[in-house]
Amino acid sequence: MKTATFRVFRFNPETDRKPQYQDYEIPITKGITVLEGLTYIKDNIDPTLAFRAFCRSGICGSCAVNINGKPRLACKTPIEKIMEEFSSKTIIIEPLSRFKIIKDLVVDTEGKKETIKRFNLWLEEKEPPRDAEFTVSPEEVKQYEKETDCILCLACCSVCEALKENIPFSGPFAFVRTFRFLSDSREKEEIKEKRLEIALNASVWSCLQCQKCVAVCPKNIAPADDIQKVRRAIVRSGKKESPGAKKLSHYLNWIYATGQINRLFLPADVYNSEKAVKEFIKTCREHGIEVWDIPHLPDGFLALRDLIIRALVEEGNIEAIDFKKIRKIDEKIEALLKGEEK
Ligand code: SF4
Ligand code: SF4
Ligand code: FES
Repeated sequence: MKTATFRVFRFNPETDRKPQYQDYEIPITKGITVLEGLTYIKDNIDPTLAFRAFCRSGICGSCAVNINGKPRLACKTPIEKIMEEFSSKTIIIEPLSRFKIIKDLVVDTEGKKETIKRFNLWLEEKEPPRDAEFTVSPEEVKQYEKETDCILCLACCSVCEALKENIPFSGPFAFVRTFRFLSDSREKEEIKEKRLEIALNASVWSCLQCQKCVAVCPKNIAPADDIQKVRRAIVRSGKKESPGAKKLSHYLNWIYATGQINRLFLPADVYNSEKAVKEFIKTCREHGIEVWDIPHLPDGFLALRDLIIRALVEEGNIEAIDFKKIRKIDEKIEALLKGEEK
């Protein structure tokens, strides 16, 4: 009979000094999943093995574990598929990273409940129209259909670079759901406003856009994209004072003005430290270091750029551009170049 070897992470923090891995031989038949393999171990080999599972159909999100280093739902992962993918009969099964281990493959997910409460992650409906029910158009549903599928498996949190760096950040799934409710026409406007405040206070700008959450979500949701959409909603609502929003505005203005991001002026635009920039440029020059972040624009570039931006705005391809800001950038560059020529 064909078999697979499960190399399973074992650790009981109450009795063990450190974790260890234990091998189990599993008979495999076509289509058998990792969860069925774990259940086989528990029923036939080792009843002390601890893991979580409930629905067995990819709905409850409780069986997420690391399978050969990647978070996956054990109930939706066929053993043979992993053996083929890694050309090996040995499969390493570990608990999700970044969570406290309760025992073996079971991690502490209590924080999820706290996040759901803190983010108000449920729909707060307006009064429905008189003598009628709310109707939601298919076009609207399409906007947040994927996000509605989130099963709170926490796979995204287990790989999140912002969480790894201990940056105060609430994890990708919270923003997936925030976006989902923000896009729902049935929700009260004042609650949407509150959602933006909560997202701001929960460090929505700390996401590094590493895209790891996108790569592991078993429901093919793209949390990183939803974070961008929440950020956009925050900026559009007029909340432009956070460093993240200022950074975004710096990127946009400088890209429109010069075609590139300017790392010299980033701190000045975000933290209002014009003095630090001047000091930095002076020090570079004193040490003969090229201040390459000052773009040398070819003759006629600025006039051509303005024409292109105006055409794009008129055709509705980009949002209205604040030319005053772009002019300011032109002036900064001119001043810097003059300084260089001295
Ligand atoms: S966004 Fe995806 S990975 Fe994150 S909790 Fe929801 S279903 Fe799981
Ligand atoms: S893109 Fe953002 S939310 Fe997603 S894993 Fe990276 S840092 Fe975390
Ligand atoms: S057991 Fe519910 S998602 Fe796997």
